[in-house]
Amino acid sequence: MKFLALSLVALSAASVEAGGPKKNFWGTNFKNLVAFGDSYTDEGRLNYISGNNGQVPPPGYIQPIGENTASGGRSWARYVATSTKTKLYNYAVGGAVCSNNLTPRTFGNGLFPSVREYEIPAYKTDSKLLKIKPSETLYTIWIGTNDIGGNALVSREQLPNVGLVNVTECVIQSLNDLYQQGARNFVLQNMAPLQYAPLYVTGEPENGGEYGKSVFWGDRDEQVKNITRLTEEIRDFVWNGNEIYKYKAPAEVTKWKGAKLAVFDSYGLMLDILNRPSAYLNGSAPLDTTGYNNHCTLDWQCKMERPQDKDSYFWYDSLHPSEQVGRVIAREFAKIFKGEGKWTSFYKN
Ligand SMILES: *[C@@H]1O[C@H](CO)[C@@H](O)[C@H](O)[C@H]1NC(C)=O
Ligand SMILES: *[C@@H]1O[C@H](CO)[C@@H](O)[C@H](O)[C@H]1NC(C)=O
Ligand SMILES: *[C@@H]1O[C@H](CO)[C@@H](O)[C@H](O)[C@H]1NC(C)=O
Repeated sequence: MKFLALSLVALSAASVEAGGPKKNFWGTNFKNLVAFGDSYTDEGRLNYISGNNGQVPPPGYIQPIGENTASGGRSWARYVATSTKTKLYNYAVGGAVCSNNLTPRTFGNGLFPSVREYEIPAYKTDSKLLKIKPSETLYTIWIGTNDIGGNALVSREQLPNVGLVNVTECVIQSLNDLYQQGARNFVLQNMAPLQYAPLYVTGEPENGGEYGKSVFWGDRDEQVKNITRLTEEIRDFVWNGNEIYKYKAPAEVTKWKGAKLAVFDSYGLMLDILNRPSAYLNGSAPLDTTGYNNHCTLDWQCKMERPQDKDSYFWYDSLHPSEQVGRVIAREFAKIFKGEGKWTSFYKN
């Protein structure tokens, strides 16, 4: 656990805590978890939208528990809510980016609903209807996978005058949108090590790569002539974006009076799982960190390679971590509620 003081002003005001009995960093026990993001977090919102001709759920909609999310099971966010006994309000939508004014991605006849233009306004409406009290609520955002990915930054399909820094800025501004509505307690989950996602790895079958077309990026092979370079480009977006978060997010958020921020190192944790899978994955051997379990044709006919061994895989499909990876993320994320955890840095001014 790290408590870091941020500016000269913060240095004099903030206490750098060390040793002694642990005091809850937040000064409260949260009753609610509000999550924003993409398919890594989505519990069924995209399914609702595609099942209802593109209509988003009505105001005050309470989402049922999703048993079959993009991880092949429950979402990490649900596991967190269960273990911390909090109410989950999950606005994440599969396919989402931070802003459709930066990296719009096509969904049906429109665009995937984005964090800044859909998810946060939807929460705003619900928060009044459902009387979600900001003082009892932890807000978290995990976005970027699609923003930097296929049909967006990495394939140069962003809008003019847009680069990685606009995406990271959008994430910080999304937190500010919430701050303006009264939110004070934030978690920012940094980007996953996507340079190891089979979708972005060399297309050779022996490397577990996604070869040929993919449901997640249909025209990949027409756009990408050099997959080694693709892997490097994705890696650079992740590295650079996370480095920006590391300095920029605390510098901005802790300027907002009364705001507290936890930066959760999804990258570090997931890399550790990739490097030491037997410490985390628990299906039957062999454990698999390079391939993936669920293989789909372009019309979404999917087949699991080892349906009995879902917990042996890091990747459920070519882009999404498995449910077991989600359980690990949830276990580590839940520590944030107590102001603890080796993958999290805490900031306040
Ligand atoms: C992206 O960020 C750069 C650097 O801050 C800025 O000059 C540019 O206007 C931004 N683009 C958009 C579309 O906001
Ligand atoms: C593909 O990209 C890699 C990494 O940038 C480079 O080393 C390699 O020469 C490229 N291959 C071709 C065929 O251009
Ligand atoms: C793996 O561990 C999780 C708890 O982290 C448990 O829920 C799951 O059933 C385990 N999987 C197997 C195959 O034992």
